[in-house]
Amino acid sequence: MANTQGPRAAASTVLAALTRHHGSLSRLLPRAAQQLDSRDRALMSELCYGVCRFYPRLQALVSPLVKKPLKIKDRDIECLLLLGCYQLDYMRIPDHAAISETVAAARQLNKPWATSFINGVLRQYQRQGAQLASHLDDAARLSHPAWLLQKLQQQWPDHWRSIVEANNHPPPMTIRVNQRRYNRGDYLAQLAEADISAIPCLYSPVGIRLEQPCDVDRLPGFRSGACSVQDEASQLVAPLLQPSKQHLILDSCAAPGGKTGHILELAGPSTVLDAVEIDKTRMGRVRENLDRLQMSARLIQGDAGKPEQWWNGAAYDAILLDAPCSASGVIRRHPDIKLLRKPDDLVKLPRLQRELLDALWGCLRPGGSLVFTTCSVLEEENDQTIASFLAAHQDAGCQAIDQDWGLSTRHGRQLLPAIDGTDGFYFAHLLKESSAPGAVPQD
Ligand SMILES: C[S@@+](CC[C@H](N)C(=O)[O-])C[C@H]1O[C@@H](n2cnc3c(N)ncnc32)[C@H](O)[C@@H]1O
Repeated sequence: MANTQGPRAAASTVLAALTRHHGSLSRLLPRAAQQLDSRDRALMSELCYGVCRFYPRLQALVSPLVKKPLKIKDRDIECLLLLGCYQLDYMRIPDHAAISETVAAARQLNKPWATSFINGVLRQYQRQGAQLASHLDDAARLSHPAWLLQKLQQQWPDHWRSIVEANNHPPPMTIRVNQRRYNRGDYLAQLAEADISAIPCLYSPVGIRLEQPCDVDRLPGFRSGACSVQDEASQLVAPLLQPSKQHLILDSCAAPGGKTGHILELAGPSTVLDAVEIDKTRMGRVRENLDRLQMSARLIQGDAGKPEQWWNGAAYDAILLDAPCSASGVIRRHPDIKLLRKPDDLVKLPRLQRELLDALWGCLRPGGSLVFTTCSVLEEENDQTIASFLAAHQDAGCQAIDQDWGLSTRHGRQLLPAIDGTDGFYFAHLLKESSAPGAVPQD
């Protein structure tokens, strides 16, 4: 009969699935959490996030101590070793408890043969860890995949160190006040009353950064739409569309709907918003978010790259393409990206971004604007995608984004976690010539 799993056994099962590319942390964790009480859930989550954050380093430290490679079916045991070392290096759990609980987790996984093996490796790590650490190469020491570190070093010669440093720290929790309900000062006062320390964001006029992350149910009025959890970088996107001046807007890769909600908070009384998302389950998240904010958009489940399947032919005044990307700008938030991304993604994703841009350009009215964003810091998905698009579309131009945040790039603006304290985010603002063939004069 299977033993009941504690947080370490559950974490190793999640991590084993992750390393075998059976899902991301945000998909795997909620399922695993159902079997644990709230304290164990918090520990499991910390172990999973922590091991992912330092995976390249931990793996490089542990592998010399494992003489015979483990079988693929015993990936959970390998992950127990990593999370054992993570506890020893990064958590305040006493060493003896970290080791004995990690050993006990092997029994809970019905692998009693592994108990003495885990005990031996972790005790050896206690003795030799510091010496092993002194021999790590840069990628392992800085805990990044070598190919990604190399790209950051090439593309951000002045900033790569601070980007890498920021990637290794958990992000702040930031919220967006629903300006239809509150001004930021009033909501800050409500937070203070609820004993939640917070400060206004620097660049987003509706952003608030919490001193400590907290459960959303502690945020005053959260369930009835007073605020949303959203990083400051993402809060800078919707204003670029100038929603109050537009009649028809398209949010083309909408889920989970963070920016959809913000566009609606800024929209005018006659603005109509279409939100397209390819993934049915994720579209459910958009619906939930809009229900909570008590707002509505026309939700269309479909492929933004195939407008002929869902578009009614009414040209949009403004389009947001918050494109699928490597998410290299949000590694601090999703450290499993260090395990999940591969160099080849930097070939496939830019291709997909170009396809989406090409397809959506035809849905934009002459004189209209398209805001292209990614949560990436890599030029393949940012300026290079825009450069290749501009080269192929005579009727497209780039509008400078004149803001006091981020760095100016060839075609847009870039936020970096290290400089701005926000997620890493890229923005480009494309304009369609109003004299394009077939243009209908706008009044
Ligand atoms: C970066 S996320 C969007 C985040 C969202 N804009 C927000 O602010 O909450 C990208 C989304 O694009 C969706 N997606 C990917 N390919 C798509 C396609 N061809 N058509 C429509 N949606 C797509 C993904 O499922 C994912 O939900």
